[in-house]
Amino acid sequence: MMKDIAFSDNLISQDIEVGETVGNVFAEDAKMSMRNVNVYYGEKQAINNVSLDLARNQVTALIGPSGCGKSTFLRCLNRMNDTIPICRVTGDLLLESEDIYAKNLDPVLLRARVGMVFQKPNPFPKSIYENVAYGPKIHGLAANKAELDEIVINSLQRAGLFQEVKDRLDAPGTGLSGGQQQRLCIARTIAVSPEIILMDEPASALDPIATAVIEELIDELKEKYTIAIVTHSMQQAARVSQTTAYFHMGQLVEMGKTEQIFTNPQHTLTENYITGRFG
Ligand SMILES: Nc1ncnc2c1ncn2[C@@H]1O[C@H](COP(=O)(O)OP(=O)(O)OP(=O)(O)O)[C@@H](O)[C@H]1O
Ligand SMILES: [Mg+2]
Repeated sequence: MMKDIAFSDNLISQDIEVGETVGNVFAEDAKMSMRNVNVYYGEKQAINNVSLDLARNQVTALIGPSGCGKSTFLRCLNRMNDTIPICRVTGDLLLESEDIYAKNLDPVLLRARVGMVFQKPNPFPKSIYENVAYGPKIHGLAANKAELDEIVINSLQRAGLFQEVKDRLDAPGTGLSGGQQQRLCIARTIAVSPEIILMDEPASALDPIATAVIEELIDELKEKYTIAIVTHSMQQAARVSQTTAYFHMGQLVEMGKTEQIFTNPQHTLTENYITGRFG
């Protein structure tokens, strides 16, 4: 029965035109600005003419039904799509007015400035200490062991994990609980002093308590970093973000202040999605 309702509304939503993006895609103080971004996998277009800003020291949530292009768009922001041979990105993507697709820009250095945390925590098969120390080592951020120790401890503290692991820094990172592993991955990302943190459903594999810890952490991290988070949980988007962008079939339907998007959506497609009629 439920399935039938979802099916018919799904068809109705597919008949509604997206049109021009509704709301405000611009930030007063933009950390990153994307303009007219298109992404193709071979012949297939996955992102269609999307423009939006990420506001500095804010959390921007990217929401929308499965397959609408959230991960694809997020991966453009630190050129993770470069690793997919059939993937092609066009448009302007600027980090502090610098073209992140410029020919002379090293994607490895870019990814240190724009870090990424994935859905499934993926610690290296190394110790807790080495997981966090790895990035600073390859980027030459510490002059000696004492400096490296300081970066590791500091990063673990900021990721809210230090108290739980301080007596076992030499134990394998893979031996931690799922929520701890995700915080370890966040510590690893922070350790190279990024400016932006991209998170693709960072809590979807976690229980409610571990999720609450991560959400609280995201709220603290925005003091220092600019954050973009993909989430399937509208409650989570409402709790952690200041701005929300709603995607539908590769297009940006609506963007605005999170509270407005969830209480007073302007586009029928956004309304259908947040009221659970679609997606
Ligand atoms: N590596 C790939 N090769 C070819 N097509 C891809 C690839 N990755 C994604 N796609 C296609 O691009 C479109 C957008 O996918 P994407 O993973 O960005 O969606 P999503 O919004 O993150 O979905 P979900 O909520 O399920 O994670 C889909 O049609 C998907 O099949
Ligand atoms: Mg995805």
